[in-house]
Amino acid sequence: MKEQSVTSEGAIGIFDSGYGGLTVLSEIRALMPGYDYIYLGDNARAPYGNRSFERVYQFTLEAVEWFFARGCHLVILACNTASAKALRSIQQINLPAINPQKRVLGVIHPTAECVADISQTNHIGVLGTEGTIQSGSYEIEIEKLYPHLTVTGEACPMWVPLVENREYDKPGADYFVKQHLDYLFGRDPQIDTIILGCTHYPLLMNKIVQFIPDNVRVITQGKYVAESLRDYLQRHPDIEDKCTKNSSVQYFTTESPEKFNQQASLFLNEQIDAHKTTLEKL
Ligand code: DGL
Repeated sequence: MKEQSVTSEGAIGIFDSGYGGLTVLSEIRALMPGYDYIYLGDNARAPYGNRSFERVYQFTLEAVEWFFARGCHLVILACNTASAKALRSIQQINLPAINPQKRVLGVIHPTAECVADISQTNHIGVLGTEGTIQSGSYEIEIEKLYPHLTVTGEACPMWVPLVENREYDKPGADYFVKQHLDYLFGRDPQIDTIILGCTHYPLLMNKIVQFIPDNVRVITQGKYVAESLRDYLQRHPDIEDKCTKNSSVQYFTTESPEKFNQQASLFLNEQIDAHKTTLEKL
């Protein structure tokens, strides 16, 4: 299918720098299979994790405008780095100018909401990209909701490349996974709840559980983001009414669709047929 022939009026947009957002899309579709979805991975410019604020903001805004041009009314930034560095500016500065009726939501707030019910020690660890951890977004969100919690962040810059290069279940991954978990617990041994604050990290779960104490719970965010989206749509019938419901999913990538189809199979249990697109302004 040629990109020009694809319309997405009323589909819910799901954006990530690459493949990680597919872990969120899976959970959203499992909970709300009836809606239409359009997924965009900016693979040509990924990873975002070590890019500057300005660059992540620019790239994310281009993606949001791309979804809006295709008729989406609601876009989920299924990328922690984009949520941390671009969401607030887009909501406060860009949306009022582009179209105040449209909505853009992120993954950090819904994930932060769940931690208080889970932790017994009130000590939380957050693992994420450099951009997410340096932004302090999880600390800020959790502090607003639950000031009694202590939050320690640890940037794991090697983890996304391990996933993207299919090394996530190989012996070499052990070194990098253990290293960052050791750093995290070295800084706060009382942590009993770890947030995987990067949508790529669920693929490293089998490694992560090998290097943490038995009492520590690891939170993957897809389920919480999905539940939060369902609640949001229930509370906002004006947006919900605009969402079409034909159970369809379309995939777009700014890189090679063949590579996207192949890599996506790591994150989804199905064959997909992605389309090529571009976000850079001509
Ligand atoms: N999936 C992105 C996130 O959740 C990380 C990947 C990247 O660095 O682009 O932060």
